[in-house]
Amino acid sequence: MISEREYRKRRTRLGRKLKPYSVGVLFSATPKIRSNDTEYPYRQNSNFYYMSGFTEDNAALVFVKEAKNFKTYLFVAQKDKTQELWHGQRLGTDKAKERFLVDDVFEFTTFNEKFKEFVIDKHHIYYDFKLDYSKVKLLKRRSENILSFENLAHIVERMRLIKSKSEIKLIKKALSITKKAHHKAMKTAQKLQYEYQLQAGIEYIFKKYGAYSDAYTSIVACGNSANTLHYINNDKKLKEGELILIDAGCEYEYYASDITRTIPVSKKFTKAQAEVYVMVLDVQKEIIGMIRPNILRSDLQKKSEELLCRGMVDLGILEGEVKTLLKEKAHKKYYPHGIGHWMGLDVHDECPYKKLNGKEIPLQAGMILTIEPGIYLDKEDENIPKKYRGLGIRIEDDILVTKEGCENLSCKIAKEINEITRKSSSSPLNSFSLLR
Ligand code: GLY
Ligand code: MN
Ligand code: MN
Repeated sequence: MISEREYRKRRTRLGRKLKPYSVGVLFSATPKIRSNDTEYPYRQNSNFYYMSGFTEDNAALVFVKEAKNFKTYLFVAQKDKTQELWHGQRLGTDKAKERFLVDDVFEFTTFNEKFKEFVIDKHHIYYDFKLDYSKVKLLKRRSENILSFENLAHIVERMRLIKSKSEIKLIKKALSITKKAHHKAMKTAQKLQYEYQLQAGIEYIFKKYGAYSDAYTSIVACGNSANTLHYINNDKKLKEGELILIDAGCEYEYYASDITRTIPVSKKFTKAQAEVYVMVLDVQKEIIGMIRPNILRSDLQKKSEELLCRGMVDLGILEGEVKTLLKEKAHKKYYPHGIGHWMGLDVHDECPYKKLNGKEIPLQAGMILTIEPGIYLDKEDENIPKKYRGLGIRIEDDILVTKEGCENLSCKIAKEINEITRKSSSSPLNSFSLLR
C-alpha cells in the first residue's frame, strides 16, 4: 500500500518543480470500448494514479502554483444512484475529502468553470501532451493569456524513475505471485494441449493470489511461435519436444512484474536446445552482474550484443569475426530488441532514458529495469544449423539498482536447466490440479 502521506509528498515535490504562476492538470484514464457497448476492465492512467492513488474514472487533479504557494485540487464524479447501480459505487466528494490529503475536492462536472478561475492570472499551463485533443482544446480555450504550455507528463515520469520503499515492496509482491505462476507452468505444461490453456493456468494463479490483472497480455509461445516477438494469439498446440517461451507477469496494486522463462513442453531440454539456452542464460547473468549506479543502459546493450554475437559464432549460428559481425550488425537478425526497459506502474515504465540535454541517464539506486536477452532462430532460416532452427529463447528478470550494485528481484524464479527440469518432474497427477 502507498500511504496518503506518500502521495502528498509526491505532490509537494511536483509543486517545487512547477514555474510560479502556473496551473497543472492530470486527467483520469478514458474507458476503452471492447466491442459495441462493452468495455475493457478500467485501468487508471499511471501518472494520475502516481500523483493521487485515485482509481475512478471522470476525475482530474489540478495543481495551482502562485508565486510560491502550491495547492492541489481533486475533481471526482458526483454520487449518482442510477449510474452507481450500473457501474459500481463512487467515492463522491465528501468521502474523497476525508480520504485524500488534497486542499479541496470538487465535483468533476464543475471542472470547466473552476479551471477558468484557476487560470485567470497564470502564465503557464502544464498538461500531458498525449491527452485527447478534445480535452486539450478545452484547456487552451480557457487560457488565452498564457505564455507557455508545458508537458506535465515529462516531469511526473522523471519522478517515477526512482522507486520508493513502498513501491519496491509492491513490485516484490507482484513478483512473488508471478513466481508461483511460472513454477506452476513448469509443472503443468506437459499435461496440457494448447498454449492458451497454459496461459489460463498462469493467469488463474495471478488472480488466486490477489493480483487482479496481468501487467500485459501474456505471451505463451511454443516452438517457432516464439520467433514472433509480440506473439499473443497463444492458440497453437503444445508439441512434445519443443520449447515454450512464456513472457507473463501480474500487476499487483497497479505495479507490474515482467518475467520470461523458456521451458520444455516435456520436462527435458534436448542437447541443441540446452546449448542455445545456456548461452543466453550466461549472457543474462553477465549483464546483470554489470548493473550498479552510474553505468549506462547503452553499456549493457552493447555488451549484450557483443556476448550474444560471440555466443552465436561459437554455436555456428553466425560465421565470421565477432568484431566484423558486430560492425555489420549481423547479430541483429537474431537479437533484434533491447536488453531491457524501466518497469514500475507500467510494464514499460514511461520514464525518460535521456536527460533534457539529450545525454543518457545513468543507472541510479532505486531504479528498476528488466534484463531480457533473447535469440530468435526462425525455422525457415537456412543459414542457421538445422538443429537450432525453430528455437526462440528469451530469459527476463526484473532488477533493482542498489547503492552497492543491484538486486535481482526475480532471482527465485527457476531458470537454471536443472531447476526447471526438477520443477517439471515434480508434476502433479493431472492437468486439473493446475486449477487448485
Ligand atoms: N513483456 C514485455 C517485455 O518483455 O518487454
Ligand atoms: Mn516481458
Ligand atoms: Mn520486458
